[in-house]
Amino acid sequence: MTQRIDIPTVAVKLPPPAVPATLSQTERTDLFARIKRLLKAQDAVLVAHYYVDEDLQKLAEETGGCVADSLEMARFGNAHPARTLVVAGVRFMGETAKILNPEKRVLMPTLDAECSLDLGCPVEPFTAFCDAHPDRRVVVYSNTSVGVKARADWVVTSSIAVKLIKHLKERGEKILWAPDKHLGTYLQRLTDADMLLWNASCVVHDEFKGHALAALKRQHPDAAVIAHPESPTAVLELADVIGSTSQLIHAAKSLPNQKLIVATDRGIFYKMQQAAPGKILLEAPSAGEGATCESCAHCPWMAMNALDNLASTLETGANEIHIDEPARVKALRATQRMLDFARDLSEQKTLGD
Ligand code: 13P
Ligand code: SF4
Repeated sequence: MTQRIDIPTVAVKLPPPAVPATLSQTERTDLFARIKRLLKAQDAVLVAHYYVDEDLQKLAEETGGCVADSLEMARFGNAHPARTLVVAGVRFMGETAKILNPEKRVLMPTLDAECSLDLGCPVEPFTAFCDAHPDRRVVVYSNTSVGVKARADWVVTSSIAVKLIKHLKERGEKILWAPDKHLGTYLQRLTDADMLLWNASCVVHDEFKGHALAALKRQHPDAAVIAHPESPTAVLELADVIGSTSQLIHAAKSLPNQKLIVATDRGIFYKMQQAAPGKILLEAPSAGEGATCESCAHCPWMAMNALDNLASTLETGANEIHIDEPARVKALRATQRMLDFARDLSEQKTLGD
């Protein structure tokens, strides 16, 4: 019963490919040492997503920060006592940290790191869409702006989206979902909830191709396919496991297969290989027939985070996230609801529910 209305697709312009500075081993070691000193001196902790450069993930690991999915990044930043959170990821991740922690300074290596889902759901048409459907609960993916979160009843990430939609369906709620049409379709098919979907997609996952994946599976019949739910239905239909980035890493470790075909950003391979040493990880195809390969399995905005802009952000205090207080307070309502729901879920799990 997936329903769509005529929402014009918002054209999203990709940034030019990030060209990482070529660093000698000495320069790299110096930058590592400089960033470590700065983090300590400024009572700062590094909160990184799995898709950012491997060096940033290593730095987060070596300095007591975290490398995580977007829910865990929010929870970690919220619970950590540091006065400054340095978020290596895309802007909605930094904004979520600020929404939850107004008293903390939140810095990012760059403020230009957008997300096609966020860009594909501008506040004004989204608000009009919600206003046209006052009988529906507004559930938005975390990959959205502060203004969109402020209009929502619930914020959710991919790690708990299935559980939340099931919960709302059990309460008899009709849902308005934004912005990811693939994730929305997946949730609707799985739960049979009454959902009206916005029309945006992730430039990375949208490019995975079902027919090319089927061909790769035939070449590797012993491989399991693990996929992020931002991927198109044709890809998800071939997947053995569908989940958030953290859930995919967990699956890579726990599945018996020695070979895995991975349909998500290839930045995840660093942590996935650590979790599942010795296993063979293959990229799901994003090229082939009908492909534009605009992103080629790597998010162009995540790629803007680098050692040099991280060091200079810490040195200058540039790229701080600021949010107007009234908008923050409004966005906090739905964001805090997500954290409370996630906490209740993990308490139920602990009690063996
Ligand atoms: P996760 O919450 O699964 O890390 O997803 C965030 C994201 O942007 C994936 O493209
Ligand atoms: Fe957004 Fe896709 Fe990049 Fe994730 S990978 S941040 S959904 S554009």
